[in-house]
Amino acid sequence: MRVLIIGSGGRESAFAWSISKSPMLEALCCAPGNPGTAKLAKNLEIDIKDFNAIKQAVLENRIGLVIVGPEEPLVNGLGDFFKQDDQLKNLLFVGPDRLGAQLEGSKEFAKNFMQKWSIPTASYRSFDKSSVGEAEKFLETLKAPYVLKADGLAAGKGVVILDNIENARRELHSMLEGKFGKAGDKVVIEEYLHGIELSVFVLTDGNDYLILPEAKDYKRIGDGDTGLNTGGMGAVSPVPFAGELFMKKVEERIVKPTIEGLKRDGIKYTGFIFVGLMNCDGEPYVIEYNVRMGDPETEAVLPRIESDLLAHLTAAARGELGAEVIIKDKRQAMTLVTVSGGYPEEYGKGFTIDGLEELKEVNIFHAGTKSLDGKTVTAGGRVLAITALSTDIESCRNILYREISSVKYDGIYYRKDIGLDLLNY
Ligand code: AMP
Ligand code: GLY
Repeated sequence: MRVLIIGSGGRESAFAWSISKSPMLEALCCAPGNPGTAKLAKNLEIDIKDFNAIKQAVLENRIGLVIVGPEEPLVNGLGDFFKQDDQLKNLLFVGPDRLGAQLEGSKEFAKNFMQKWSIPTASYRSFDKSSVGEAEKFLETLKAPYVLKADGLAAGKGVVILDNIENARRELHSMLEGKFGKAGDKVVIEEYLHGIELSVFVLTDGNDYLILPEAKDYKRIGDGDTGLNTGGMGAVSPVPFAGELFMKKVEERIVKPTIEGLKRDGIKYTGFIFVGLMNCDGEPYVIEYNVRMGDPETEAVLPRIESDLLAHLTAAARGELGAEVIIKDKRQAMTLVTVSGGYPEEYGKGFTIDGLEELKEVNIFHAGTKSLDGKTVTAGGRVLAITALSTDIESCRNILYREISSVKYDGIYYRKDIGLDLLNY
């Protein structure tokens, strides 16, 4: 199989690493990729917003299977573009069409879908400019904290949680008045869920599914879950509070009805479904769907898949996932993300990264890096993700923090407490 991975972050580096182990692989390309993927794949310098450029790259490199890392091309219809093109329509493509991608692209769509198919989620209503009055009344029926969500994609910033109703009202107005651009034309207001979060990943061909290893992500910039939200600062898999009983509930109450609901709604869905969940006293509730894998969760999840990921992806794209069996490594995986000082706000770029060659006991997944004059330099907020696989969380922590001390670049920052909250579960 000749494979193209679309994207350039830690998640795509992990895909490249996992797929490059497959005996089915004939050639691997990554668009645009990064210096990490360059070690395993041919990087193609194209703008992934330009679907015609993707088409040309696919044809030139005789690609047979395309895997899309980030959500944006899917929400913008890359899947539909492939299906409608005579030269591309017979190729294998892992990712939903524009309609299926609405599970992530529109919070209102996702909430209506969950309500229709009785999938447990926080109670909610959605409003636009014409219904501000009703929105204010609805806020009064809820208890603090108040959860407001811009309907559309807002670069991960569209969810705002407020402690008092005055601020909630103010936020509601500012969202509807364009704080997040068109993404905030509609605002979902929902009940606050108390619990502990985790991410469950499903690969589906629209009929059958595989449940991948679950993970917990550390979203805030600071130790002890303080400070601003980020794309994710670390991840652990498996998650100690997601035992067999809980995961059975997730499968029966969430995964099965989601896939059945998509089918009954006539939405042909191939690809990943990332279910962001809250465990509320042992009961799972969906916080959000994403139509892709998580980052950095992927960097902890894929090292725990012992079976052939490329075989699973190929089967999913062919509609033959029913014949696949996933084998999971029972060991503990943990991922630590290093960022550039200042992230998630303003940060510098172009700092030389030293010491990578000294890392021996971890997988290194490049995220925001690039090659410059023979050196690897920082090129983004999240710079590296390193993953350890060991017996338990404590041992993973020991490995990760010992190893990361060899890596140097100006302004390097990482959380010191990844996994610490889970030591006593
Ligand atoms: P999202 O962008 O949908 O992932 O939301 C960002 C974060 O807001 C989630 O990861 C949760 O931590 C939090 N969140 C979203 N919805 C709720 C809710 N209904 N109750 C509590 N926390 C929530
Ligand atoms: N780490 C969370 C996400 O990928 O959305």
